[in-house]
Amino acid sequence: MNEKHRLVIVIGSVREGRFGPVIASWVAERAREHGGFDVDVVDLAEVEIPLALPEVSPKYAGDAYPRPAAMAPLTSRLAEADAFIMVTPEYNHSYPAALKSAIDWHFSQWTAKPVAFVSYGGAAGGRHAVLHLENVLTELHAVTIRDGLAFPNYYTSWQEGQPLDPAAAGYAKTLLDQLAWWAGALRAAREAVPYPA
Ligand SMILES: Cc1cc2nc3c(=O)[nH]c(=O)nc-3n(C[C@H](O)[C@H](O)[C@H](O)COP(=O)(O)O)c2cc1C
Repeated sequence: MNEKHRLVIVIGSVREGRFGPVIASWVAERAREHGGFDVDVVDLAEVEIPLALPEVSPKYAGDAYPRPAAMAPLTSRLAEADAFIMVTPEYNHSYPAALKSAIDWHFSQWTAKPVAFVSYGGAAGGRHAVLHLENVLTELHAVTIRDGLAFPNYYTSWQEGQPLDPAAAGYAKTLLDQLAWWAGALRAAREAVPYPA
């Protein structure tokens, strides 16, 4: 398949003064350079995501799930994606509430699709956040990608929008190669046989 994979990069932090967009923009640049993806960056700070969910579950309500009208563009962008990269910081050994909320408002939009992670934070580089995301996304039948990028102490390891580690771009290429493989394989599988969720 020569067609490019539709990649959604999610900026998981909505905090004032956040660093997330700097990392997401570097990741988006690597993904465009890779050549295998059409890249769409979703900034959760630009979307209204209420904490209170409807009574029914998106798992069972499907297309009838009653989302706020303003969420429709986000839902379509997630639904159209063949692959995701979540750019997440670590908050109290997990990932931000806004990202959990965006995940919980959706279900089929994640199912049978690959998700990779780029994390950052203090000494652990956001690894606790990623471990929690892997666990949560399994419940949604997403496929998590083994190779990710973790940036410990991002405040000293980044300068002028670039990581100081010269190996980082190589790690990004590995992540993107694996993500592209899974995006193609899972898209073909979804088109061939409905996923039994
Ligand atoms: C509420 C809160 C909790 C945090 N907890 C952790 C933590 O458990 N581990 C860590 O490495 N960094 C932690 N940090 C530091 C963040 O990783 C760091 O501030 C990072 O910049 C947050 O990403 P953002 O700027 O994109 O919001 C925490 C920050 C906040 C605001």
